[in-house]
Amino acid sequence: MMLTLPDVQYDLRPGIIEFRAGHPDLALLPAAGFLQATQVILEREASRALSYGAEQGPGCLINQLCAWLGRMQGETPPATEQVLISGGASQALDMLCMLLTEPGDMALVQSPTYHLALRVMRDHRLELVSVPSDDEGLNVDALEETLTSLQRRGRPPRLLYLVPTFNNPSGITLTLERRRALAELAQQFKLIVVEDDVYYQLWYDRPPPPSIYSLAPSGSIIRLGSFSKILAPGLRLGWMLASPEIVRRCVKSGVLDSGGGLNHFTAHVAAAFIELGLLDQQIYTLRNAYRERRDVLVNALEEHLPQDCRWVTPQGGFFVWLRLPAQIDSASFLPAAEAAGVSYIPGTLFFANGGGERYCRVNFTMFSRDELEEGARRLGNVLHHR
Ligand SMILES: Cc1ncc(COP(=O)(O)O)c(C=O)c1O
Repeated sequence: MMLTLPDVQYDLRPGIIEFRAGHPDLALLPAAGFLQATQVILEREASRALSYGAEQGPGCLINQLCAWLGRMQGETPPATEQVLISGGASQALDMLCMLLTEPGDMALVQSPTYHLALRVMRDHRLELVSVPSDDEGLNVDALEETLTSLQRRGRPPRLLYLVPTFNNPSGITLTLERRRALAELAQQFKLIVVEDDVYYQLWYDRPPPPSIYSLAPSGSIIRLGSFSKILAPGLRLGWMLASPEIVRRCVKSGVLDSGGGLNHFTAHVAAAFIELGLLDQQIYTLRNAYRERRDVLVNALEEHLPQDCRWVTPQGGFFVWLRLPAQIDSASFLPAAEAAGVSYIPGTLFFANGGGERYCRVNFTMFSRDELEEGARRLGNVLHHR
């Protein structure tokens, strides 16, 4: 008998509105643009695009990306020797852990933070230590205290990982003042900071502050970007901005030496996508669609949820971070919610050292207006009748 093997990672259960998802809207994946970009590449430079690629990533994408980042963010474009094309932000983080850490090293992580980045770091046997955050993002004073105390104990952390812009899961963005303070601390403590910025371009009200990477004079900030959220996760393509020294270290890794640059063909297609002006267009489409969905969800939560629930309306990204009424543990409550036809991810998964029991991560990018309203209504109903 032939087993039916899945082609895709998500698992949508019939009858449940899967607010636990973290995917872009499948209907907004730009298939026609990919057809056009792929045709350009195959007609114009098939042999180059189908060869083993340069370790750093193909020059055509690096050049397009640098110009695009400068244009999109109103910043000086990064120098090409500060860019590495990656197999997405996850692969870049994995490579950094492999090259810059040893098993048993300590890594500081923002709490709450992207739960699967915690998994990547645990794969490398890092000891994870939480640094708290609040409505202005990572608590930089708490970070300074932790760094000072670890320095006194002769146990400096190897790195700090954070999602400063439209955080997954909280949606919160680190303020400009704290970004500056963090850039200074990184320099003072010679701390490697991994700024995972995959949602930066997806703002719905006003542009976020400049990246920490762009504010830091020292070379110890590494900024990760990805095409997963702005183009398509199936590309498995992203980028790393870092000091030329760190980029060189990655470029000399065995895996790139042996196999060449990652996802070389899709990197060519992405370069053509940018060159044709399709990426800017796609981002405007996503901003408009996701802004509307965010508003629909937030209004529906307002209408249906008990008054003692709390959330901060996210200014960008994919998620609403919902705090349930006191005494409700979101993990224990999940079966009741799913029985009522709505899911979420319990908050504890986003904390490395405990916390988040009352919180739920709720996605809004993948659902229609009707589904968002119905999901909020189901959640409200089950909370009112608990
Ligand atoms: C903060 C954050 N970083 C990284 C990723 C994964 O990025 P990629 O698909 O580029 O590996 C995600 C996806 O949910 C994310 O939310």
